[in-house]
Amino acid sequence: MIIHTNEVLFEEVQSETLVVAVSKHVENTPKWDTFLKSFGEHIGDWVKSGDISTDLKKIVKIPVSNHESVKRVLFVGIGDRKQLTQERLREAFGLVGKELLVSKPESLGIWLPSFTTDAITVADVAYLAAEGIGMGSFTYEGYKTSSNVPDYYLPSIELLMDEEDEEIVSYFEVGTIYADAVNEARILVNTPGNVLTSTQLGEYARELGETYGFETEILGKKEIEELGMGALLAVNQGSVEEPRLIALKYQATDDWTDVVGLVGKGITFDTGGYSIKTKTGIVGMKGDMGVAAAVLGAMQIIGELRPNKNVIAIIASTDNMISGNAFKPDDVITSMSGKTIEILNTDAEGRLVLADAVTYAKQQGANYIVDVATLTGGVITALGYDKTGALTNNEEFFETFMESSLETGEFVWRLPLTENDKKRIRKSDVADLNNSPGGDGHMIFGGGFVGEFVEETPWIHLDIAGTSDTKSAHDFGPKGGTGVMVRTLATLVERMAEEE
Ligand code: BES
Ligand code: ZN
Ligand code: ZN
Repeated sequence: MIIHTNEVLFEEVQSETLVVAVSKHVENTPKWDTFLKSFGEHIGDWVKSGDISTDLKKIVKIPVSNHESVKRVLFVGIGDRKQLTQERLREAFGLVGKELLVSKPESLGIWLPSFTTDAITVADVAYLAAEGIGMGSFTYEGYKTSSNVPDYYLPSIELLMDEEDEEIVSYFEVGTIYADAVNEARILVNTPGNVLTSTQLGEYARELGETYGFETEILGKKEIEELGMGALLAVNQGSVEEPRLIALKYQATDDWTDVVGLVGKGITFDTGGYSIKTKTGIVGMKGDMGVAAAVLGAMQIIGELRPNKNVIAIIASTDNMISGNAFKPDDVITSMSGKTIEILNTDAEGRLVLADAVTYAKQQGANYIVDVATLTGGVITALGYDKTGALTNNEEFFETFMESSLETGEFVWRLPLTENDKKRIRKSDVADLNNSPGGDGHMIFGGGFVGEFVEETPWIHLDIAGTSDTKSAHDFGPKGGTGVMVRTLATLVERMAEEE
């Protein structure tokens, strides 16, 4: 993406498509008169008549014939400026991104000041525009042999602002970095289980590590056995594919202290094992590594922006299959931590691989842990498909996290984890823990089980089973993988770095 700034001299705009915000009182927008002089007074009349709508997120495209470069103006309604929020603006830009897939301009000009409000600065607009347009213009072609879906597409960019300002350009670049990482995560989620095996996921992580200079460990079965990761191995037992334990270290300070651990479930396909899923429930389970995608996406942003905070990303990856070797209900296994687990349900495999991943993260020095997983159908029952569920053992850490989620607009809702819940997780005649206490409240039991391995470390558990992919298109992209939590995890690390 080429970025060059331009004073707001509309005659000199060089882009094929120009994006302009129209608010309810657009005539008060500074330089609106200059804009009309360049593009035609009739536009003012069309706004007054409602043919160009000022309603929030309404997009009207008009052709232009009297300008040297600009062939069309894309008007985006932003409604009442007083009611405009960052998230609404991000959504509006998401729709602009989608529109670009239709007209496919080679270059795009964005008149940044036309979007500002008292609370939303030009720099904010630059960031939100890059992020919204970057995510909104994402498409996924998949493996169709005669696809008519457009390629992933972004034009070169021209930012129109009152005076040249490097900070604004850098905000735009950060927005682009965030959107690119989300889109990479979406591709990972959409990739089928026969292509994205644990070995392939490991290779992807290795390349990411090389690109950004992370200290990278991709452990194979033998090393995982040596570490005594009995829980990850139990889930892998029925598979012909080797498991992988992926560790990426980003060291920001001289000492390896004050480390944030991002821990993810990387089940490349979840059949449920002997507690097998139904023929409808099993479809879509290629996405059971949505979190690996979220964690790797966040690491991509961290690698680009290099915040002053040590981070370790751990992903435990395998598929959950059936064979003569597969683990079974009633088995008792020993996790890396030494804690024994009675298996009551082989479909509750995510918490098992996370148990060992969390233990490894702690062993590698993580002082804070965020574990993320497509862990339970229960979170969908509780919160639907648009909210990520959370548990925590630390109010202060959770507050910083919620501030990050507010900033990114990714909705998170916390559920309780009571002593009674913990008792039920610890209830077993033959082992320290059971992996499926049954009844309702699956999300709490799933997360609570992981908490048994986290112990006292400040911890947040995120269940993205509902939010990791969508069945229908939305403002920020098509159906399929959403890349949820990529932005919030990266923002959390950035915030923690700023708190230093
Ligand atoms: N991968 C699933 C959770 C899931 C469900 C993800 C729907 C995405 C959409 C997980 O491994 C699972 O099967 N969980 C069980 C747990 C239960 C057996 C305690 C569930 O939620 O049904
Ligand atoms: Zn499962
Ligand atoms: Zn699963």
